[in-house]
Amino acid sequence: MENKPELLDKVVSLAKRRGFLYQGSEIYGGMSGFWDYGPLGVALKENIKKLWRQIFVSSRDDMYGLDAAIIMNPRVWKASGHVGGFIDSLEAEGKTQKFNLMFKTQVGALKDSAAASYLRPETAQGIFVNFKNIVDSFHPKLPFGIFQIGKAFRNEITPRDFLFRMREFEQMEVEYFVRAADWEHYFGEWREIMWRFIGALGLNKEDVHEVEVPEAERAHYSKRTIDFEYDFPFGRQELYGLAYRTDYDLRQHQETSGVDLSFLDDPPAGGGNRFLPHVIEPSLGIDRTVLALLGNAYVEDELGGERRTVLRLEPELAPIKFAVFPLLKNKPQLVKQAQMIYRELKQKVPATVFDDNDNIGKRYRRQDEIGTPYCLTIDFQTLDDGTVTIRDRDSGKQERIKPEEAPYFKPHFTP
Ligand code: GAP
Repeated sequence: MENKPELLDKVVSLAKRRGFLYQGSEIYGGMSGFWDYGPLGVALKENIKKLWRQIFVSSRDDMYGLDAAIIMNPRVWKASGHVGGFIDSLEAEGKTQKFNLMFKTQVGALKDSAAASYLRPETAQGIFVNFKNIVDSFHPKLPFGIFQIGKAFRNEITPRDFLFRMREFEQMEVEYFVRAADWEHYFGEWREIMWRFIGALGLNKEDVHEVEVPEAERAHYSKRTIDFEYDFPFGRQELYGLAYRTDYDLRQHQETSGVDLSFLDDPPAGGGNRFLPHVIEPSLGIDRTVLALLGNAYVEDELGGERRTVLRLEPELAPIKFAVFPLLKNKPQLVKQAQMIYRELKQKVPATVFDDNDNIGKRYRRQDEIGTPYCLTIDFQTLDDGTVTIRDRDSGKQERIKPEEAPYFKPHFTP
């Protein structure tokens, strides 16, 4: 992505105009750090999650899913170190003030300090506090992972740059439990998986840079962190992180809760070893993924002598896969035939739309702008021989095919 501030403005404008994203609480003037996903944004986000699940979860046989509560016992956040250490500094009137980034909330009606808790600032802790539950239910062997997709909340002092720094955002996290001696091997394995995901997103690999985070800048729990930085339009910034969290979290929760969280390794005859596994954590923000994808895909080019805006999203990520048009909307036979083909296609590929507004050129432009890879047009020849034109978003090239020859997208199945 080019380092151009105007690109961000264009992406924000397209995202709002075409229903990817809206300013949170917009009719009340908005609220800094909060964004709402519109219909196309919801579809894009869902496609990102499907791709992540494919690569991080369902192609493997050592992963366990979780959907933990956002609000947890406040002792979780003391034990994890977030109450004491999840702070940022605020410069105010020459004084530096320390500021905890967790949102505090009151649980129940009584205003008793013990009932105060927090909105989770990372999904990871829900995984650590359920570690024993998963082990007891499934008896996994090491190494194995627990994954979770969900919202996280941080009272960021300076939310900025559209989806880059939000106060409410979504994470896709894996906590991968390993024997201490194996951590480097699995750190390397997850590093490769992260690159595979970045490639599958269609991001330019030259725009992504690994940065070894020095000790002084690492989170309190980490012995090694690699940031995957991305060339956003406003500069190079963190996209994802990969951390070696040691056994810090399990140890802290074991000590604070008094519950034995040790893992009994493959017990040979006569008993196995008990120990706290170590953790490798690939942590990916969905909203930053959306931001990187929109900026990366946004292109203004010329097609057939006309300027157009096109989102060159990977077809698998595009919110709409097929748009079906009758060539002319005032010809009932064309409209009827187009509706029939649309319904058949929609059964196979639900992300299919029908459009008969405006002229055909305007319909193509509308679909190009939201990244629809294929438009199918039903014309008079369709009535004769059943063929339709299929137009490719990127090249604008058209060819005649039977509707059943249209490239279908494998529906994802998420276990
Ligand atoms: N569990 C580890 C963890 O939360 P992090 O580096 O603080 O680590 C992980 O966050 C990822 O979450 C980041 O790489 C980024 O993609 C996303 N993220 C963090 N803070 C964010 C914010 N304020 N707005 C949007 N995304 C954010």
